Parts: sequence; C-alpha cells; structure tokens
Amino acid sequence: MSRLIVVSNRVAKSDGANKGSEGGLAVGVMAAMEKDGGVWFGWSGKIDNRNEAPKTETRGNIEYVTINLRQSEYNQYYKGYANSVLWPLFHQRPELMRYSDTDLSGYLQANQKFADELLKIIQPGDTIWIHDYHLIPLGKMLRDAGIKNPIGFFLHTPFPSLDLLRTVPGYHKILKGLMHYDLVGFQTQFDHMGFCMGIAQGLGGEILKNDKLRVGNLHCTARVYPISVETSALNGAAQGGMQTDEYRRLHSSLGDRSLIIGVDRLDYSKGLVQRFQAYDKLLGHYQEFMRKVVYLQISPTSRGDVQAYGDLAKRIDREAGHIIGTYADFDWMPLRYLNRGFRRRTILAMYNLARVGLVTPLKDGMNLVAKEYVAAQNPEDPGVLVLSELAGAADELDAAVVINPYDVSAITGGLAKALNMPLDERIDRWRKMMDVLEAHDIHAWQSQFLGDLKQVTGPKLVTSSS
Ligand code: G6P
Repeated sequence: MSRLIVVSNRVAKSDGANKGSEGGLAVGVMAAMEKDGGVWFGWSGKIDNRNEAPKTETRGNIEYVTINLRQSEYNQYYKGYANSVLWPLFHQRPELMRYSDTDLSGYLQANQKFADELLKIIQPGDTIWIHDYHLIPLGKMLRDAGIKNPIGFFLHTPFPSLDLLRTVPGYHKILKGLMHYDLVGFQTQFDHMGFCMGIAQGLGGEILKNDKLRVGNLHCTARVYPISVETSALNGAAQGGMQTDEYRRLHSSLGDRSLIIGVDRLDYSKGLVQRFQAYDKLLGHYQEFMRKVVYLQISPTSRGDVQAYGDLAKRIDREAGHIIGTYADFDWMPLRYLNRGFRRRTILAMYNLARVGLVTPLKDGMNLVAKEYVAAQNPEDPGVLVLSELAGAADELDAAVVINPYDVSAITGGLAKALNMPLDERIDRWRKMMDVLEAHDIHAWQSQFLGDLKQVTGPKLVTSSS
C-alpha cells in the first residue's frame, strides 16, 4: 500500500473546533489532503512531560498521528529556535531574532523525536511530505536512519536572501539541511532565487539544468509551487456561513455602512500597526467616510508567550484605543477589534459581506486570506482586495489594489480607492483574480508538487559526514 505521509508541526484541528487561528499551513494542507487522504503527523498542540505514545485518530480519510511536546521542547524548539529565530529571520526581521545554542539544540532534538516516531510508521512505498521551517533537519535525519522513500519539503514562509540568512549562526546547516530532500518547494520566485543563490554562494554548490542543485554528493530539485485555496468550494461555504447567527448579527449591525475586513493572526509580519495608522488617516482626512464605514479586524492571539508578540499586542491595543477614542460616537464604532477567531464558514461569509478585504503584511509567504477573500465574493457585486505587494499572493493577484505596506498613505489611498470603486471595475478586477484561482486551486498545487516529487525521485546519495 502506498500512502502519503504529511508531516508538519501544526496539524489541523477537527473542522468543528477550527476557530480560524491556525494559519495558512493547516488550512491549505487540510484542503489538499481531504481529497485523497493519508497520514498527517505532527504536534498535538499539548505540552506534557510524560513520554506518552503518539495518539492516532481517524477523521474522514485522514489518519492523524500526534505527539505531545515536553515543556523544554516547547520552549527551545517551538517558542525558541522556530519562532524566535527562523520565523523573524524568514520574515526579514533579524532585529527580532533571539538566538541561543540551547534553543538550536532543542530544535534538533525535537526534530529527532519527530524522526524517531516517524521511523515506526513509514513503510516502503510511502511518500513523505514535510512542511515548514520547524522541520528543516528532519529529511536528513530520516535519510541517516536509512529511509529511501521519496521525501519532499514545502516551505510556507518566505526564504531569505543569503545576505540576510547569514545573520543566523550556523546558517549553512539550514541550506544543507534542505539539500537532503528530493524536492524542495517555495511559494515565490524570490524565495526560490534566495535558496539557489544561498546554495551557490553560501555552500559553493552548483545550479544545474531542470531546477536541480548539487552540493558535493547531495542532489535536490527546487521549484516554485504557489499554494492556493479550494476555489470552487469557498463560495458555497460562504453561503453556508450566512446561515449562522454571528453572520446575521454582523449584517444587521452594519445598516448601510460598508464593511472593511482584516483577518490575521496577531503577528508582527502582518503589518497591523501600519494598517491601523492608515485607517486612522482615512477617517482623519476623508470626511465622506465618517460614520459610513466599519473596520472589523479579527486577530486571534498567536504565540503570545514570545516577547515580540506580547509587545505587538500592547502596541495594537494602543492604536485601536486611539482610533476609537478619536472617532467613535455614541452610536457609531469605527473599529471592531477582536482577539479571537471564528469558524471558517462564518469568516467566509464575513468576507462575502465586506466591501474591502484588507491584507497588508510586511512580508508573507503567500497569504491565503487574500485568496479566500476573492473566492468568497459574490460575482455580481464583488468586494475589492487591497493587497500588500510583499505578500506572495501579489505575484498572482495583481488585479487587486496593490500597495506597499510600509507606506501608510498608500494604504489609506488604496482603501479610499476600494471604497469608491465603481461596480464594473470591481467585477473586472475580481474576474481576473478568480481566473487565476480557478486555474490553480489547492488540488492543482498538491498534484503538481507530488507529481514532480515522483518524477524527480532517484537514488539518493547519503553520507554520514554531510
Ligand atoms: C504560519 C506558519 C505555519 C503555522 C501557522 C500558525 O502559517 O507557516 O507553520 O502553523 O503560521 O502558527 P502556529 O505557531 O500557531 O502554528
């Protein structure tokens, strides 16, 4: 029997429990796996210092195998090296990096724990697909243990240029770690280029034909696979969400005001400070929008025990307080800022209701909110996407109102343009974006990656010194 084994730090919760705070990886991989099924291995989300055996649970055609993390593993691997070194580095914020050797060794130990558990379940014929920055060394660990199966890796985040990458001690191990995969997938050409240049200049490797790379006796293929959404299903799901009590209450609370919506984990990569400042400017400079708009920002708390996230939460609270204190009236609240998530279908229905989808990350691998916002629109009266040019999604969704997320005035201008846009232009822009999403949905993403993995897999050279 040949199975797909997907490995990621975070696995999707069951649909009912999904409150929209899981991020793009869980949403994307879930949609991709639902069709053909497989095994999904990852962290349970629980911290437990007893060494319990992995838990297996089958939902639909996916078998979830999850392990707990010990407190020290959570601190050093998840909170430490993954989210206080790799995440800020990959999102171009080296000043937020907090590097320590202890965290790096905890990161490697946690990867070894994943490897040890996976070795118990991998069978000949299985295809292994590892996801994201938490698990870069895992491929080599599996190879060292003698696994010969095809192993692919997909990075959901951006990948930095060598110049930035080398700010982290031991950066060459990150590059070399990726060389142990048969196929490495990136979101954009920029990310792919950063990796190839890193291999060539940082490791003295060679860039060969057909996207192949070589470093000593290690070979891998690296290509671009922009992740997408379940395009055809999202409009129907949005219709379903319209039956919910939350949607009805939101709808009736708006009256004839236009809704601007933002949905992001509370993360410094999402550009929330600049976004709030831009909204402040919109209300301050454009009198015509006073009392006519409502901005709903849904931002579930994320990685709250990492200091940079705690600091951000306080900063956003201040910005929100300033907007409300300055512009609100006893019968109009210009901003609704929520630190909790909602079920996906409710969120999709909210996207459908919103005249503007505001997606302004300072840096983002792809940003599936942008794609979901487009796919959830009503074709006869679609809303407008205001999109950061620094989100991977901007490469494909160039019919959005594209802005530089560091330029507060440009976001304000983009918002005004979106709110004033005539129907024919809205339909025209939306159609162009939908064409892209219909031609390349999440199933195309999965089958392209797995099809290529099958094609490129050949005998893998493994050395103990690499
Ligand atoms: C991003 C990352 C994912 C991560 C998600 C949520 O989308 O690429 O790997 O799972 O954020 O973050 P969390 O730390 O809660 O898993």
